Amino acid sequence: MKHLININSLDIDEINQIYNRALEFEKGIRKANHINSHVVNMFFENSTRTKMSFEMAENKIHTNKYDFTADTSSIQKGEDLYDTINNLSAIGMNVVIMRHSDNKLIEKLCAKSYFQEISFINAGSGTDAHPTQALLDFYTIKKHFLNLYGKTLVIVGDVGHSRVAHSNINLLKKFGMKIRCAAPENLIGEKIEGVEYFTSLREAFEQADIVMALRIQRERIQEKIDFEEYIKNYQITKDNLPYAAFLMHPGPVNRDIEISSDVLELQNARTILNQAKNGVYVRMAVLDMILTAQGL
Ligand code: CP
Repeated sequence: MKHLININSLDIDEINQIYNRALEFEKGIRKANHINSHVVNMFFENSTRTKMSFEMAENKIHTNKYDFTADTSSIQKGEDLYDTINNLSAIGMNVVIMRHSDNKLIEKLCAKSYFQEISFINAGSGTDAHPTQALLDFYTIKKHFLNLYGKTLVIVGDVGHSRVAHSNINLLKKFGMKIRCAAPENLIGEKIEGVEYFTSLREAFEQADIVMALRIQRERIQEKIDFEEYIKNYQITKDNLPYAAFLMHPGPVNRDIEISSDVLELQNARTILNQAKNGVYVRMAVLDMILTAQGL
C-alpha cells in the first residue's frame, strides 16, 4: 500500500489484511519500529479523535512525528499547498497525513508527480471520504459480529454531508452488509446505489443490527436548520433505539441533538468509545503497512 486516499482503492483482501494487522497490534503480538521514518500531520480542519489517535499510533510504532500548524506556517505568507508539500518532501518527510475541507484536494496532491517518494493518508476530505474512520468502524463491527454478511446497518442523520457515511457505505457494501439511511429529505444528499433511504426513523429501524448516528455538520450547511423538528423526528432515544442494536457514532457527538444523553449511558453505547480506541490500532496498521512498503 503506497497511499490511502479512499476506500475504493482497497480490495477485500487488503481490508482484511489491515483488520488482521490491527488485531495483532491490539493483542500485542505484533510490534513495529519505524525509527528511521518521518510522518507529518497536517490538519486543516478541527479534529480530536483522528488527530490524537494518529499521534498515538505514530508513537506506538516509533516513527518520528511532526505537527504542521497551518496558522503558523508559511501558507499564511501565500505559499501554495503544492509547494509546501514539495518542501516537506525535500526536508525528508515520508508520509503526509492530511485532513482538508476540499473533497478532492488530497487526491489531486497525491497524483502530482513531484511527490513520488511521499505517501498520503486521507484523514478526512470534505464531505467525500474518511477511509481510516471506515476501517476502524469495520474493525469494531467485525470484532463483534465476526461475519458481516446480511447484517443491517442503519445510518441516521446528516448522511449527505458525511464523509464517514460515504466511506462506510463503500466499505461495508463490499462485505455484503445491508445499508439503510434515515434522514430528512434535505440531509439525504446524493443517493447511492444499493442503499435504502427512509424519511421515517421507525420504518428504518424495523430491521437494524447496528445503528450509526451522525452529527449534523452545521459548518457545511448554509440554510437554517430546524433542530426542534430534527430532534422530534430523528433523535435516537431510549424509546426508539431497537433493543440490542449495536450503537455507533464516529464522534464528535452533539448530546441531546442526534442522541439523547441517557442513551449514551446504555450498554449499547459503549461501542462509541471502543470506536475511538480501535482507531489507534487501525491507524497503527495502516501506517505500518505504508512505511514497510517504503522500506522504512
Ligand atoms: N470521527 C472523527 O473524525 O472525529 P474527529 O473529527 O474528532 O477527528
